[in-house]
Amino acid sequence: MSVQIAAHLRALPFDDAIERILVDSPTIQARIQAIGAEITEKYRGQDLLLISVLKGSIVFMADLIRSIDTPHEIDFMATSSYGSGTQSSGVVRILKDLNKSIEGRNVLLVEDIIDSGHTLNYLVRMLQERQPASLRLVTLLDKPERREVDMNVDWIGFSIPNDFVVGYGLDYNELYRNLPYIGVLKPHVYSGGRVEQSKGLHKRKED
Ligand code: IMP
Ligand code: MG
Repeated sequence: MSVQIAAHLRALPFDDAIERILVDSPTIQARIQAIGAEITEKYRGQDLLLISVLKGSIVFMADLIRSIDTPHEIDFMATSSYGSGTQSSGVVRILKDLNKSIEGRNVLLVEDIIDSGHTLNYLVRMLQERQPASLRLVTLLDKPERREVDMNVDWIGFSIPNDFVVGYGLDYNELYRNLPYIGVLKPHVYSGGRVEQSKGLHKRKED
């Protein structure tokens, strides 16, 4: 992305950048409370470690852990995708690994969005090799139409159509993570930077 386009995005008021709100803040909060209650029941009295994949899932993670009413630990990983950027290769580079071993632990991996599924599929296989006692998945958003790898996801916040979304942690060009809702960008916002909806062209380096 050029310096000019980045400056244009920063100068654009949110109202001029967002075409429509897909999931509003109260709806997100209500769904997280419901998921948190289910997670609480599943793990009550047991060991639990939540792992957030930086950066997209931090807002979801922050609300989710406060909706879980049983003691648990948290940790963070950061990844980036290899490849040309024109296709989700499924090869993921670890930029920041976990602080501690997960061997014998009950792990819950927290994701912002599952698109092709390649990133999550790679992470799950990598974490399974470290022999956790259990490994479950929770994602705020799911784009089932774009799935290329079958994934068994334990909790899904919302299944959404094949639109490029931002807000509540999700970014376009590192911006819009702070919006309290999930919104669809106006096409003119990304026409310069081209967010393609086919074959993972909209994947950026860091999640
Ligand atoms: P996957 O490997 O194709 O499932 O890619 C998942 C990653 O792509 C997510 O963790 C996001 O960082 C990014 N991503 C996919 N769709 C969107 C979107 O609509 N908005 C923002 N980021 C997205
Ligand atoms: Mg991500």
